[in-house]
Amino acid sequence: MNILVTGGAGYIGSHTCVALIEAGHTVIVVDNLCNSKADTIDRVKEITNKEVIFYKIDVTDEAKVDKVFLNHDIDGIIHFAGLKAVGESVEKPLDYYYNNLVGTMILSKLCQKYNVNKFVFSSSATVYGNNTVPFVETMELLPTTNPYGETKAMSERILTDVVKANPDFSVSLLRYFNPVGAHKSGLIGEAPNGIPNNLMPYVAQVAKGKLEKLRVFGNDYPTVDGTGVRDYIHVMDIAEGHVAAIERLNEGVNIFNLGTGQGTSVLQLVKAFEEANDIKISYEIVERRLGDIAECYADASKAKRELGWQARRNIIDMCRDAWRFEKNYEG
Ligand code: NAD
Ligand code: UD1
Repeated sequence: MNILVTGGAGYIGSHTCVALIEAGHTVIVVDNLCNSKADTIDRVKEITNKEVIFYKIDVTDEAKVDKVFLNHDIDGIIHFAGLKAVGESVEKPLDYYYNNLVGTMILSKLCQKYNVNKFVFSSSATVYGNNTVPFVETMELLPTTNPYGETKAMSERILTDVVKANPDFSVSLLRYFNPVGAHKSGLIGEAPNGIPNNLMPYVAQVAKGKLEKLRVFGNDYPTVDGTGVRDYIHVMDIAEGHVAAIERLNEGVNIFNLGTGQGTSVLQLVKAFEEANDIKISYEIVERRLGDIAECYADASKAKRELGWQARRNIIDMCRDAWRFEKNYEG
């Protein structure tokens, strides 16, 4: 298939491009590089030894995106392009609502215009809010605590309504849990701007000596050791989940959790990182972070049953690959 990948220069998008190419698909990337670099595309080419068509375009620029649809015979689209920093979304809500919602609307409109009937969307486990774990696709969505999360819930609703009005249009809403790690080549990975908000890149930067110590946000949650529990999933497993989702897209709206089904606490992750890489990680316990929930992990059985996909890489693989990338990364 010819697959349009928006946000394909980003963290999950670049790994998905590798997985798509390895599965025999052709990718056309659209990215405005607001949170990524063009050399990531070169690295995808280096890993796969294949061409990648790249347009530096903003997905909210309808006229330019229209030309991409016109120039290529697109079979399906995977829409990653979006802003994703939770804290920033609270400070700049309009940027988040504009970028994330207008992008989704323009792309689904162009899909109707050019008769592109396969659409895979990057949603997030954040749409479950404070439901009881494990999160199952059939649960009622609860309000999220920030505009970023709301853009995911709203995009899901927009796409669902577009399907209702256009029965030939099929959508897959993929709710990611916590993507971490990097491609085994160490050439592409997660390279956040500034001080990382998320746990794994923070730990990797402590390992590198860029940051002094990890601050563990709370050890009084009702969890195995009092620290927050999450479902970390290797980014290449997430990438392969997208290949399965677009290849096996059924009619209508398809919702899948992309998680491992396994919860890991902050301290368990620190220990796994130390073991995997033989490096000591200094940490201190500090106050809880506002907006955090105690536990978040998936019921991952639906994707296994219906897509034949399940995560294959474990927490040690995630820590080893995250560190291999961070070690080599000069950014
Ligand atoms: P990322 O920031 O690395 O990648 C997003 C890419 O989209 C970047 O390359 C950025 O330059 C591009 N982009 C943003 N706005 C754009 C626009 N208007 N036009 C064109 N390009 C634009 O983020 P990521 O971690 O790879 O996340 C990809 C998607 O998955 C996002 O939609 C994100 O919200 C979602 N998601 C991510 C996580 C996570 O933990 N990383 C979890 C759940 C959902
Ligand atoms: C974050 C986002 C969420 C998004 C998810 C996946 C916030 C508030 N939420 O959630 O919307 O869907 O990423 O990308 O940013 N931790 C520390 N010290 C740190 C960093 C994190 O102790 O320096 C802890 C957190 O309290 C949490 C766990 O590590 O228990 C994971 O945190 P993080 O990587 O930020 O992911 P989420 O909290 O799941």
